[in-house]
Amino acid sequence: MDVYEAVTSRRAVRGFTDRHIPKDVLKRVVAAAAWSPSGSNLQPWNSYLVTGAPLAELKKRAGERVAAHDAWDEREYEMYPPELKSPYRERRSAFGHERYSALGIAEGDWEARQRTASANWDCFGAPAALFCYIDRKLGAPQWADVGMYLQTVMLLLRGEGLHSCTQMAWSVYRKTVAEVLSPPEGLTLFCGMSIGYEDVTVPYVRTGRAPINETITFVDG
Ligand SMILES: Cc1cc2nc3c(=O)[nH]c(=O)nc-3n(C[C@H](O)[C@H](O)[C@H](O)COP(=O)(O)O)c2cc1C
Repeated sequence: MDVYEAVTSRRAVRGFTDRHIPKDVLKRVVAAAAWSPSGSNLQPWNSYLVTGAPLAELKKRAGERVAAHDAWDEREYEMYPPELKSPYRERRSAFGHERYSALGIAEGDWEARQRTASANWDCFGAPAALFCYIDRKLGAPQWADVGMYLQTVMLLLRGEGLHSCTQMAWSVYRKTVAEVLSPPEGLTLFCGMSIGYEDVTVPYVRTGRAPINETITFVDG
């Protein structure tokens, strides 16, 4: 697949079929993603690729917490600043509108929104997931490195005909993830990523992007 096609066909897919993903495909993707760049080649990503019984167990445990309205685990990092300033605030609400209107959920129907969001902890039905940790002692530049790594994984998945959804949502149940994965001390769970073949019956609205002149300035000579 052409790199432009990989970039433009990648989107956060929130509905997957249970079609099995061959192990060698997933291994090929994560082996190639290891070539992602990082400052001084620190390679600060610590990932777990989870399928089969362990993923089923994780979904089950997380689902039980959702059903019990269990409090979220205390945060290890802020997903967003508490006061999201303009233009980010507007972009976030535009995203919420796109996401929920596609599913016919009315503005302000918080219960339906919550019900929809709870599919995060079932990985939207995906048969595979990647959980990405970073060492607590590392800083913002290394978190940026991890972002590049995750995007590389997502683009390679497109090359294999697969889709994905990165999910900070998993960080709210990080203790449950840790129960199943037993990561070493000192790591912070940044996010999960659902991986699978798209269920094309799930409706969605393609998220828009800010006009290009809002996010890039061309300085011509
Ligand atoms: C770091 C990160 C965390 C995200 N967390 C979630 C999440 O928890 N749940 C979810 O449904 N989507 C999540 N997303 C997907 C974003 O909402 C999505 O990428 C954004 O709205 C742009 O849409 P697109 O990826 O379809 O182009 C996340 C994306 C990123 C990059």
